[in-house]
Amino acid sequence: MDLKGRDFLKLLDFTPEEIVYLLDVAADLKDKKKRGVPMDTLRGKNVALIFEKTSTRTRCAFEVAAHDLGMGCTYLDPTGSQIGKKESIADTARVLAGMFEGIEYRGFEQSIVEELAEYSKVPVWNGLTNEFHPTQMLADLLTIREHFGYLKGIKLTYMGDARYNMGNSLMVACAKMGMHFTACTTAKYFPDKALVETCEKIAAKTGGSITLTEDVDAGTAGANVIYTDVWVSMGEPDEVWEERIRELSPYQVNKAAMDNADENAIFMHCLPAFHDLKTKIGAQMGERFGISEMEVTDEVFESAQSLVFEEAENRMHTIKAVMYATLV
Ligand code: CP
Ligand code: NVA
Repeated sequence: MDLKGRDFLKLLDFTPEEIVYLLDVAADLKDKKKRGVPMDTLRGKNVALIFEKTSTRTRCAFEVAAHDLGMGCTYLDPTGSQIGKKESIADTARVLAGMFEGIEYRGFEQSIVEELAEYSKVPVWNGLTNEFHPTQMLADLLTIREHFGYLKGIKLTYMGDARYNMGNSLMVACAKMGMHFTACTTAKYFPDKALVETCEKIAAKTGGSITLTEDVDAGTAGANVIYTDVWVSMGEPDEVWEERIRELSPYQVNKAAMDNADENAIFMHCLPAFHDLKTKIGAQMGERFGISEMEVTDEVFESAQSLVFEEAENRMHTIKAVMYATLV
């Protein structure tokens, strides 16, 4: 398998075999890291990390992975560069490609990262757009594979806002890997129709399936993985909080939802999560709407079924695999 020079913009661009290859590379790099085997073979290379939205996991994962591989990295924060304000994406791509061997981009529309890749002669990696979060998918698939030992046939139920980057990406990831994806939410928050049709066609070939349901009991019954994400994503206006809380509260991941899933079900979340009042926004929402938790209850988040921190660690190993596979 040779992915050298490829961009990593969305999982739709990759075959199931290529995705499995990236997971295998990640598992190998993780094992080497745990055993203290140095993997700094990319010495002399440098990567640029463009973040037009904030980040903890993705930024740290790219930085640590780059350092582990022996590379230098430069972080461009949401306010500190000329991108989009004084310099176009096309010009930025050509400037950075002259100095760096790879470029990570986190920001708004998918079309921006696609344009960056079109004008860049070095690989571009999508660190999250409004539509997709593909590096998160590799971490999630690795975590599920580590836990259950396989991916094909796994039933993953996504609850909450399924029409944004996480819902879209998980639907694609499940379709590609022959898994059964269920979006369990109110119809307004179902993923985009055209993307659902695309995923249904992929799933027909891989043995997976796509289900959209508003019924919590039916949607969670027998699930191996229950997944959720924040109800309001980065870049969305504060005004939507009230309707999101009202409309998505029935789809909160709580003990009843977990109890209705398979008895060995796990809970996953890309993080950050609102599971208590210990954050600024969480506390504000708690005060405004009289709630103490949102998309997931603290009980589920802190339970033995919750793999969220293993999942977060796997961001680093999988991002390292993406950089390694596309640069070597
Ligand atoms: N899951 C994720 O992408 O987290 P960050 O926003 O902290 O990068
Ligand atoms: N849907 C979330 C994912 C964060 C990792 C957002 O876009 O803010």
